[in-house]
Amino acid sequence: MFSNKDITHFANIETPFYYYDLTLLQNTLDTCAQAAKVYNFHVHYAMKANFNPMVLEKIKSTGFGADCVSGGEVKKAIEIGFDQNKVVFAGVGKSDKEINDALDQDIFCFNVESIQELEVINELAAKRAKKARVAIRINPNVDAHTHHNITTGLDENKFGINSWDLPDCAETLKQCAQLEFIGIHFHIGSQITNLDVYKNLCVRVNEFAAWFEERGFLVKVLNVGGGLGIDYHNPDQQVPDFEAYFKIFNDFLEVRSNQEVHFELGRALVGQSSSLISKVLYVKNGKKKNFIILDAGMTELMRPALYQAYHKIENLTRQGVTDTSVKYDVVGPICESTDCFGKEVELPETSRGDLIALRSTGAYGEVMASHYNLRENVNVAYSE
Ligand code: LLP
Repeated sequence: MFSNKDITHFANIETPFYYYDLTLLQNTLDTCAQAAKVYNFHVHYAMKANFNPMVLEKIKSTGFGADCVSGGEVKKAIEIGFDQNKVVFAGVGKSDKEINDALDQDIFCFNVESIQELEVINELAAKRAKKARVAIRINPNVDAHTHHNITTGLDENKFGINSWDLPDCAETLKQCAQLEFIGIHFHIGSQITNLDVYKNLCVRVNEFAAWFEERGFLVKVLNVGGGLGIDYHNPDQQVPDFEAYFKIFNDFLEVRSNQEVHFELGRALVGQSSSLISKVLYVKNGKKKNFIILDAGMTELMRPALYQAYHKIENLTRQGVTDTSVKYDVVGPICESTDCFGKEVELPETSRGDLIALRSTGAYGEVMASHYNLRENVNVAYSE
């Protein structure tokens, strides 16, 4: 829900633009930090969700670490000032250069996704006379019950080491003198709204931790990844239920006193704190369909085209108008039929020039923008 003051302010900014509510962001971060503190859980922010510098600054200041999936993200995390002891590096395809740079930065840990990668990190660390801390990313074959494009923890997914390869993995770890095994890592998918999924994950994490310990490995870190979803249908509900989320892990994970539990939250921390604000360029009323054509498209917000993702659409200029009897397909200007933000969306009667908000775009919004069709950089504006 935007105030009239916000909407008047928006009228002076060139559209389309991402609008960040930094107060809401800070509230969300504080709520998460407090809920995690109760159990002494550690949170690394999954930078891929949003690496806008203002957003990163707030996250760093709250004391979270950084979960990175590329050399670029590791570099950015260090530049922004995240403590290198709180930087972890995951990803199925780390290049030699990325590994070398991360070794030079003495990051906390590599989350390793294949046996071959273990060997490569060992070799590169040896050349630098360094020891690399590693956690094994295990594919636990737990169904996240989310969209198949953002599921990562099933046997058919490319991520992590499968359970049947763990004996070989343990053998390799024992042979690699430059590696220090610190724990196990999981991430089963994103936009998970059914918390029972995490109970199933905990059961698997307990089994795998026991498996490693029985073979003489000390499991210091249990990293359970991220994936907590947000309510895209109720963007004003805003702050996710971090208490309930962390409680599940406290209740179902077997944690010894010398073990740390790590989380890699992305979407839940930033998702609700931004909206993409766009202007109506044209309204085309047809026999079968009415179209609203926006000045924002899939180049600014890719999620609907890529995952059929839902983002609530609001006409800010008509805020307060209760008659939402017209159904529109809300589309962008890009020359692709998938460039559509919503079909048959009920809105007040809409005119050229109206301001439209696409809500809950703080995660995987601005960062996934592209220059397809030679579109220019999307603008950004902040509250505060
Ligand atoms: N850790 C790892 C290893 C990951 O791959 C991811 C997300 C996360 C943590 C953070 O997940 P989150 O808490 O944000 O769900 N672009 C898609 C989402 C892709 C998620 C990729 N990995 C979307 O727009 O829905």
